[in-house]
Amino acid sequence: MMKTKVLALSLGAAVFSFGMMGNAFADGAALFQAKGCGGCHGAGGNTPVMPVYPKLAGQSEQYLLNQMKDIKSGARANGQSAVMKGVIAGVSDAEMAEIAKYLAAAK
Ligand code: HEC
Repeated sequence: MMKTKVLALSLGAAVFSFGMMGNAFADGAALFQAKGCGGCHGAGGNTPVMPVYPKLAGQSEQYLLNQMKDIKSGARANGQSAVMKGVIAGVSDAEMAEIAKYLAAAK
């Protein structure tokens, strides 16, 4: 009886961690790093490498998401947007949403 319970528990944990692995990039912080965003905006999104590059952390989640979508679609094409466009082209809507959530909560 005990053994079955332990087995069921560890099976559950295995399934859970497999799910996490499959979704490793669903994590906003990991995505921000993996997509190279920190290369311009700084590791936490708030230490941009150029004075004209924006700070991202702490802005509203919806605002951040809108800007990413607008830069990707070309609706936002001011200032330095072109620099950012090539990078955001490789980021899906779902990934942008995760990154926006992460950045909004970051300081
Ligand atoms: C090559 C440098 C570079 C990289 C890499 C880069 N960005 Fe940007 N990003 C910029 C620049 C420059 C702007 C400002 C564009 C403008 O002037 O309109 C910007 C703007 C933004 C904005 C809008 C900020 C605001 O306050 O309106 C967001 C959000 C953003 N980037 C997120 C990201 C994310 C997420 C990634 C990674 C997927 C990323 N950036 C990668 C250079 C970069």
